Amino acid sequence: MSTLASKEIRLAGRPHGAPTADNFEVAETQVAAPGEGEVRVRNLWMSVDPYMRARMIDDPKHYISAFQMGKALEGGAIGVVVDSGDPNFAPGDHVQSMMGWREIFNAPGSALNKVDTQGLPLHAPLHIAGLTGLTAYYGLLKIGQPKEGETVFVSAAAGAVGSIVSQIAKIKGCRVVGTAGSDEKCEWLESRGVDKAINYKTAGNLVKAVREAAPDGVDVYFENVGGDHLIAALENMNEHGRIPVCGMISGYNAEKPEPGPPNLFRIIQRKLLLQGFIVSDHFDVYPEFIRDLAGWIKDGKVQWQETVVEGIDNAPDAFLRLFSGEKTGKMLVKLGEDDG
Ligand SMILES: NC(=O)c1ccc[n+]([C@@H]2O[C@H](COP(=O)([O-])OP(=O)(O)OC[C@H]3O[C@@H](n4cnc5c(N)ncnc54)[C@H](OP(=O)(O)O)[C@@H]3O)[C@@H](O)[C@H]2O)c1
Repeated sequence: MSTLASKEIRLAGRPHGAPTADNFEVAETQVAAPGEGEVRVRNLWMSVDPYMRARMIDDPKHYISAFQMGKALEGGAIGVVVDSGDPNFAPGDHVQSMMGWREIFNAPGSALNKVDTQGLPLHAPLHIAGLTGLTAYYGLLKIGQPKEGETVFVSAAAGAVGSIVSQIAKIKGCRVVGTAGSDEKCEWLESRGVDKAINYKTAGNLVKAVREAAPDGVDVYFENVGGDHLIAALENMNEHGRIPVCGMISGYNAEKPEPGPPNLFRIIQRKLLLQGFIVSDHFDVYPEFIRDLAGWIKDGKVQWQETVVEGIDNAPDAFLRLFSGEKTGKMLVKLGEDDG
């Protein structure tokens, strides 16, 4: 078993404001044969996700550790075992790990999980059948608790999480209003049953746009964006409304903390519940989620979109496009063909 040439993406600089290509570097490495208990894996797919932006800066208060300067980044990935020093893994096995942002790597078997695709494509556990889908399911159903006939407002509604939230809300018999950053994304949302999709880039006054789209008020606001979206939601919430706080991507690249919404008093006045959550605390809900999801996919009630960028060299660009919105649905990077 010889050494294999690989490439990985390292953190070259911590961003101030919006990250740029200069914050990343491509490094060539040599990956030795695996030692005893180790497995050598060739990655086929990796995920880029908004939470990685927070790992690019050194914030001791963050819930997950910072990426180290000059070291390979980390993130969800699916690969194929090339050779193994662990009897639990054999060449050809498909494995999921947090060792994304690199082509080939060695890891102890304990850092790998055999992939269960749930009958979906190999990369599905990196989005619809993985944390993306679980985030939508947990946040909407366990925190938002939408009831039939209620109105659900979803920000970043055409994104990976938001598009699943929107469709589950429709399954639950809700009126659904969503925002997205282009007319094409809005058209897709309405083709999936969303009652009114708002292009937030051209809508003008978002408070008014949401009011017009949700004339009976908003009962559940699924928060992905923050900023003007949170202001608009608070202004339109009904009494006893629920706000699962999933993300606030509009502020992730702010150079200094932005002022909070001026209308936070609505939380008291309308007796609202706002609850933040981190999906990795809720793996116990996964079996229930995957059972429901399988039925919804079979019945054609849930569909998903994805944007696939090819090659490790293009992984930083894939990540940057999460913030420009130049992608549709879940953003993924394909690192190689599955030829065993
Ligand atoms: N709490 C958790 O455990 C958890 C887990 C997963 C994700 N999240 C959060 O959920 C949110 C969505 O994540 P995702 O993975 O599904 O990403 P995504 O929605 O697929 O991609 C990000 C989208 O955010 C929108 N966006 C970016 N900058 C924006 C801005 N300044 N104003 C308005 N919209 C903006 C863009 O949508 P348009 O193209 O429509 O503009 C972009 O496509 C993020 O906030 C993320 O941090 C949280």
